Amino acid sequence: MSQTEKHVGIVGMGSYVPDKVLSNLDLEKMVDTSDEWIRTRTGIIERRISDEDFVTSDLAYNAAKKALDDAGMKPEEIDLIIVATITSDMYTPSTACVVQAKLGAVNAAAFDINSACTGFVYGITIAKQFIIAETYKNVLVIGAEKMSSIIDWTDRNTCVLFGEGAGAAVVSLVDEEGIIATNIGSDGSVGKCLTAPSCHISREEKDKRVSGNFRTIWMDGGEVFKFAVRTLSTETLKILDKANVNLSDVKLIIPHQANIRIIDGAAKRLGIEKERIFTNIHKYGNMSAASIPIALNEAVLEGKIKKGDLIILVGFGGGLTWGSALIKWNKN
Ligand code: ACO
Repeated sequence: MSQTEKHVGIVGMGSYVPDKVLSNLDLEKMVDTSDEWIRTRTGIIERRISDEDFVTSDLAYNAAKKALDDAGMKPEEIDLIIVATITSDMYTPSTACVVQAKLGAVNAAAFDINSACTGFVYGITIAKQFIIAETYKNVLVIGAEKMSSIIDWTDRNTCVLFGEGAGAAVVSLVDEEGIIATNIGSDGSVGKCLTAPSCHISREEKDKRVSGNFRTIWMDGGEVFKFAVRTLSTETLKILDKANVNLSDVKLIIPHQANIRIIDGAAKRLGIEKERIFTNIHKYGNMSAASIPIALNEAVLEGKIKKGDLIILVGFGGGLTWGSALIKWNKN
């Protein structure tokens, strides 16, 4: 089989969110905010939060099990596990190694990637390269986040935005076109507008966090907002151009779920109806690397994507990073 004839696609998907719901009304009791402000400024109504001891690898494991079942595969058939997360259980071992052990994926290499909300798109891009190069046959890509571990619950600017969960995909060789094209990028020079310190906390990062909770997420919301609206539309157009496909041929766009106004702004820029962009932000908030795979899985389960449909995944986030993927859905 020549390089050009190989096709890589998603052969199994699964997602998981914790049962516990944190509503806007609950948040009203925690910080100076209102259900009305959160709904109108973000589109979020509620989000899921896991118990303290239920960590990112647990979220990832639950989604991964479902993805393996969906693919009809045993854990031993997985050659590589990639976990995209900014809320790793520990610095080491990686969350991917913890998941590898929990699954009993005894033949898999494992590593984490940190591309924030763009993580899943980065992950399938990496997976595709390994499969095309015939290094690995079956790669498990997981986006998983326990955002409560880095949230400052006294900061109303950020604590209302995030939720937690995990989405997973098994990526393998397929007979027909699957992941047609991907595009990933970054601009570290503007990374300071969205930070969560780990080993080193600079004076600058300390000064941003007036509450003294230093290992928490901080964001210049306005800057990220402008970047996000611009990126959603430009990345969508870029991936269409790369694959020589028209926007009118795309059934559904699945964007990162950060703010409904960002998604509506992108729809306006692209000149398409809102219905052609999938949203579930009202139920879950922003789940960082987990948002796109969970949204993709829900779109499939809701029958919004059928075999043969062209879809676009498009993400943006910390780094700053961005990425898009054009996929022909090749599952029933
Ligand atoms: N409740 C009530 N008032 C609030 C709240 C709140 N929860 N949060 C902020 N406000 C106030 C502010 O203090 C400000 O008050 P002031 O005018 O008296 O100073 C006012 O509301 C307006 O604040 P803005 O920041 O201008 O509000 P904006 O409409 O821009 O919405 C938001 C803020 C939701 C954060 C928006 O900027 C946003 O969505 N940004 C992008 C986030 C994003 O895309 N993140 C993706 C990456 S995340 C990742 O990678 C992990």
